[in-house]
Amino acid sequence: MVGALPSGLPPAPDGSLPRGITPSPETPFSAYVHVPYCRVRCGYCDFNTYTSDELRGSRRESYVEVVSREIELAQRVMSVAGEGRTLDTVFFGGGTPTLLPARDLVTVLARLRETLGIAPGAEVTTEANPDSVDSDYFVELVAGGFTRVSFGVQSVMPHVLATLDRTHDPERVGDVIDEARSAGLDVSIDLIYGTPGESLADWRHSLESAVGWGVDHVSAYALIIEEGTALERRIRRGEVSAIDDDLHADMYEVADEVFSAAGLSWYEISNWARSPQHQSRHNLAYWRNHDWWGFGPGAHSHVAGARWWNVKHPAEYERLLNLGVSPAAGYEVPTPAERELERLMLGLRVSDGVAAGPVDPAAMAAMVIEGLLNDEAAQSGQLVLTRAGRLRADEVVRRLAREG
Ligand SMILES: C[S@@+](CC[C@H](N)C(=O)[O-])C[C@H]1O[C@@H](n2cnc3c(N)ncnc32)[C@H](O)[C@@H]1O
Ligand code: SF4
Repeated sequence: MVGALPSGLPPAPDGSLPRGITPSPETPFSAYVHVPYCRVRCGYCDFNTYTSDELRGSRRESYVEVVSREIELAQRVMSVAGEGRTLDTVFFGGGTPTLLPARDLVTVLARLRETLGIAPGAEVTTEANPDSVDSDYFVELVAGGFTRVSFGVQSVMPHVLATLDRTHDPERVGDVIDEARSAGLDVSIDLIYGTPGESLADWRHSLESAVGWGVDHVSAYALIIEEGTALERRIRRGEVSAIDDDLHADMYEVADEVFSAAGLSWYEISNWARSPQHQSRHNLAYWRNHDWWGFGPGAHSHVAGARWWNVKHPAEYERLLNLGVSPAAGYEVPTPAERELERLMLGLRVSDGVAAGPVDPAAMAAMVIEGLLNDEAAQSGQLVLTRAGRLRADEVVRRLAREG
């Protein structure tokens, strides 16, 4: 089961941009490609992904052909809107993109190159589960234009991986990372902390392994117990322990210490990089509210302030594209107040912070005194979270928005 889509206005059948939405040639442009397949569903995950018996007749083998139709639609829509930009970043996420043959990912990338165009030096990433790839796969990706891979490692502790239903062998991860690097890819890994039964010592092991593998980029996410997931039901039944917020906070602090000591600096609440060149340009495009087109079932797009999202099920997505209509399910154009909230929410996540703009100076001063906002930055009109502030980012945004 996957979560519901947001409600919104009905989209135009031909996918055209809402009236009054005009892309700016100065705003960087990205593509996200959602590949909605997984071998098994991890008990904690509510992403839009399907195992083979949930596909209701749609086939993985048709993915390239179907998504290519949405790429052609995007080209038509964007050229009508006077589009002259090429893609600065492309990100294949999932699901498990690497359940498809490397040839399929390379073909989709080639279609993007032939239609929207890909900028020289673009960052092109795919997510990968460590047990779904090998050296030949990486070599094929690099030959096709991929520059980066992001592995879902989550933990190196077998009991933590078992609670998360992860199937890979943690002993193999270092080798897979070496293979990706030898093929010429930049390597990032995802870790999760706060899994029921995970101790601070377990978490340290995962952090030290990450540092030992010499990765250039790490994302570390607090485990979210999503409603309707198998893990949530197990917690409700008392089979595994609930989340401990204090432990989460301690784990975040240890992560920041271990990464900083190893030369990885935070540049977004959950992301650390060896240098500014190793930061994820694609994710920065989201946090900076740039433009992107999300291809594939359930993918979200954002162009010049308008947001839209595709139907979630791959069979419905395929049906609409076969009929020659847009697979979008709804769209919205945020009000100025919603845009201001979005500006704060996204901008505060990154280490550069965000201009204070219209926020109330008294609210800002109070949070500087409480140690949530950086004093020096605040004096020059910039909102930057301290480490304590990063742990309470939602509260900081709420207070700034309410009092602004
Ligand atoms: C949705 S997965 C897709 C990539 C790949 N299938 C994988 O699992 O690594 C992307 C990342 O989202 C994170 N994630 C998914 N569900 C989460 C949850 N409930 N809480 C925290 N992080 C989660 C995991 O770290 C995962 O690596
Ligand atoms: S492999 Fe990734 S996308 Fe698939 S169910 Fe697990 S966490 Fe979700």
